[in-house]
Amino acid sequence: MSTLKKYLMMATIASTAYLHLTVNSQESVGLGTPVTEDQLSEFDLIAGPDGDGFPAGSGTARQGKAVYDARCAACHALTGEGVSGNTIIVGGDMNSEGTPLRTVGSYWPYASTVFDFVRRAMPADAPKSLSNEEVYQVVAYVLYLNGIVGEDEVLNAETLPNIEMPNADGFIDQSHLL
Ligand code: HEC
Repeated sequence: MSTLKKYLMMATIASTAYLHLTVNSQESVGLGTPVTEDQLSEFDLIAGPDGDGFPAGSGTARQGKAVYDARCAACHALTGEGVSGNTIIVGGDMNSEGTPLRTVGSYWPYASTVFDFVRRAMPADAPKSLSNEEVYQVVAYVLYLNGIVGEDEVLNAETLPNIEMPNADGFIDQSHLL
């Protein structure tokens, strides 16, 4: 079961218990219609570093260039150097003496985050408008611009979570404290 479904199930159990306590005399509370699998799939977008939640499909940087140039370059520039401080997605340096420049290439520890983020939030002017195939392609291109994958390296549900990001060891795992 996906993480999102688990959360929804917990939320349903919690709200059912609440309704039972508060609406005990009404026959029907008129809560609308059940969510369909199709509707749910539009929000079931969590793709984690453990490889869980990746959709079918695949793509290479060579294919992703067309998607990037048409759908991303207006805000991130053709080379990824951005048009403002927060749109730089290529380059950067975590070892500089001044404030480090954090980008996908220099800072993000997992390639899965790039896929997850682009699929749910980009392009910023039309989020969720790319097909899964296009997301694989354009993520491959962003990683290629950062020198992380080759132009013809195929990204899919198996290969993408295994990509070693440059800053993978730059974080301290404190999940044992949770
Ligand atoms: C209309 C402008 C616009 C378009 C088009 C756009 N983006 Fe963005 N993108 C942004 C902005 C603004 C941010 C910074 C958001 C923030 O910091 O919350 C961003 C952030 C990002 C980030 C995270 C950068 C970071 O280090 O935090 C990635 C990756 C990204 N975009 C990829 C893409 C891709 C791939 C496309 C094309 C499919 C795309 N963007 C299209 C405006 C855009």
